[in-house]
Amino acid sequence: MKKFTIIIALIIAVAFVGSAMAVSSGQKAEFKGGAMGKVTFDGKIHADKGLKCNDCHTNIFQMKHGTAKIKMADHNAGKLCFSCHDGKKAFTSKENCAKCHKKAAAGY
Ligand code: HEC
Ligand code: HEC
Ligand code: HEC
Repeated sequence: MKKFTIIIALIIAVAFVGSAMAVSSGQKAEFKGGAMGKVTFDGKIHADKGLKCNDCHTNIFQMKHGTAKIKMADHNAGKLCFSCHDGKKAFTSKENCAKCHKKAAAGY
């Protein structure tokens, strides 16, 4: 009985690891974001909007967090995040700063 439980647990564990790797769209990438506050890129939100891996990889972003160096000038230059966040494909980065930049709550 005990052995049986362990085997079941192993099967479940393997199944979970497998699905975690298949759904890499569930990943998040955090950016420090400077004085405006940190930015979290949520892979799941983007996948849910129907975006496929090759909409971003690797013509816009490499599959390695920290590769893209995203500067203020890029916000208005239609590059990187802002190739979509231009007010056409997705909300514009000329406004909506707080949709991406989250300041830590006061006191932190
Ligand atoms: C809307 C754009 C977008 C889509 C769609 C997207 N990604 Fe990404 N992905 C990113 C960004 C942004 C990063 C972080 C890049 C950086 O920091 O330079 C990233 C990073 C990654 C990384 C590296 C993670 C790390 O910690 O180093 C992997 C792996 C990855 N993506 C896989 C995928 C796969 C697989 C899919 C499809 C299921 C996918 N991505 C879809 C934007 C996207
Ligand atoms: C290939 C196009 C594309 C790229 C590249 C892209 N996004 Fe998006 N993003 C979208 C779309 C489409 C939506 C959903 C439509 C909308 O909210 O305007 C979205 C939604 C969002 C949201 C709103 C999430 C919510 O809570 O509803 C945030 C935040 C966001 N993106 C951040 C980023 C950041 C940060 C980057 C760069 C690291 C990025 N996006 C790159 C297309 C993109
Ligand atoms: C679509 C998401 C998004 C929106 C909207 C957005 N930003 Fe950003 N911003 C980013 C990302 C991603 C970075 C890169 C952060 C990092 O690498 O640490 C960034 C970085 C910055 C930086 C630091 C630049 C540097 O050179 O280090 C400033 C300042 C900034 N944003 C200001 C703004 C302002 C002001 C607005 C609104 C007018 C805005 N952002 C709207 C995603 C966004």
